[in-house]
Amino acid sequence: MEQYVIKGGIPLEGEVVIAGAKNAALGILAAAVMTDQEVKIENVPNVRDTRVLLQAIEGIGARVRYEDEHTVIICGGTIRPNSDLCVDDEFIRKIRASYYLLGALLGKYKHSQVALPGGCDIGARPIDLHIKGFEALGAKVDILNGMISTHADELIGNHIYMDVTSVGATINVMMAAVLAEGKTTIENAAKEPHIVDVANFLNSMGANIKGAGTDVIRIRGVRELHGTTYSIIPDQIEAGTFMMAAAATKGNILIKNVIPKHLEAITSKLLEIGARVIEYDDSVRVMCDKRLKSTNVKTLPYPGFPTDMQPQISVTLALSKGTSIVTESIFENRFKYVAELSRMGAKIRVEGNTAIIDGVETFAGAAIAAPDLRAGAALVIAALVADDYSTISDIKYIQRGYEKFEEKLQALGAHIEKVETEKDIQKFKLKIG
Ligand code: UD1
Repeated sequence: MEQYVIKGGIPLEGEVVIAGAKNAALGILAAAVMTDQEVKIENVPNVRDTRVLLQAIEGIGARVRYEDEHTVIICGGTIRPNSDLCVDDEFIRKIRASYYLLGALLGKYKHSQVALPGGCDIGARPIDLHIKGFEALGAKVDILNGMISTHADELIGNHIYMDVTSVGATINVMMAAVLAEGKTTIENAAKEPHIVDVANFLNSMGANIKGAGTDVIRIRGVRELHGTTYSIIPDQIEAGTFMMAAAATKGNILIKNVIPKHLEAITSKLLEIGARVIEYDDSVRVMCDKRLKSTNVKTLPYPGFPTDMQPQISVTLALSKGTSIVTESIFENRFKYVAELSRMGAKIRVEGNTAIIDGVETFAGAAIAAPDLRAGAALVIAALVADDYSTISDIKYIQRGYEKFEEKLQALGAHIEKVETEKDIQKFKLKIG
């Protein structure tokens, strides 16, 4: 089994280039099948989630071709519209975002079928809002034998109010509504940068979407979409993870290919606890040469502090002077990494959706396991701080969303290696000394 072995204690220094946004890519790749023409998508992050979604897209009959590592050409013209349009269990079990094909295929073919989603175990993660949105557009939605199917004789635009701000439901309903007849309004829509990116992509295919990035999205249905070439925005969460790694290891990293505006919530927390952040046009530098201070953080939908950065900032705060309070308000099961971090010496008490963190001076190396994608990345940061050896198992979660994570960290001076056997670990220890 692949795992990371890490010897911490080294301030990370140098430059890192951020990949395309995973969560934007998942929406955009699914939406690409909505035209029969070829679509070229650039800056696709080469991570497990995007690779699995592309396999699912091939599975329903679309043609998928990699032009290079980060450029994918998709042609939805080879999909057989009268087939089941069934996205298999295998893919949805691996990635929850396969459910974007529900909205994309419903919009184009007026029917779709996807296995009920799983995904990272960070909470209940219902899909009632997706279903409510499809039904409002006139689709009949059935759940039978673990499959969700949608069917509509015709899709008609409607006024849809999202009871909870949901990234997934906003994207899914937006995709279906693009090819519905007439006008759709989505109220209380999510405003995350990847919502805007998916909307811009659909507009470049001929859709008519206005207001993405605000809480009211207005869509005027069009008859069909056409081919396009589109480049995905940089990954806000990968960038934020390296920002926290710079702060926690007392390093100095120039993080390139970012949109600093998307990082504002993260930047302001780092400034508040005493790190230095310099913003450039498309990069940020994070520097830290002293022990940071405590603060309070509450996760919120964009532009609030992202839930996907909660584990990483908690690790940073677990090393900061004083007591911090971190409140998780999006997912109820997102503190699973705390048990692992406590084994490294962190002092964290979880009460309901709140973590009370008493900062310690440093961590001790330990054998730990990644409980999910972002928590896994946060534990890597913790291990990079600990001055002795750590191993992190279950790195398959980290590989879902971070491209060449260990290589990027190595280039910043980190002692980290992906290994398979005990012998590999011993070799690493001999090499590092
Ligand atoms: C997306 C991101 C994920 C991020 C999350 C919140 C992708 C592929 N994943 O997940 O990384 O952590 O946004 O920023 O983009 N909810 C309902 N009913 C629904 C749908 C959601 O009650 O039908 C609730 C959820 O339980 C949660 C909240 O809405 O409490 C937000 O979830 P949502 O924004 O939908 O998250 P995802 O799209 O699954």
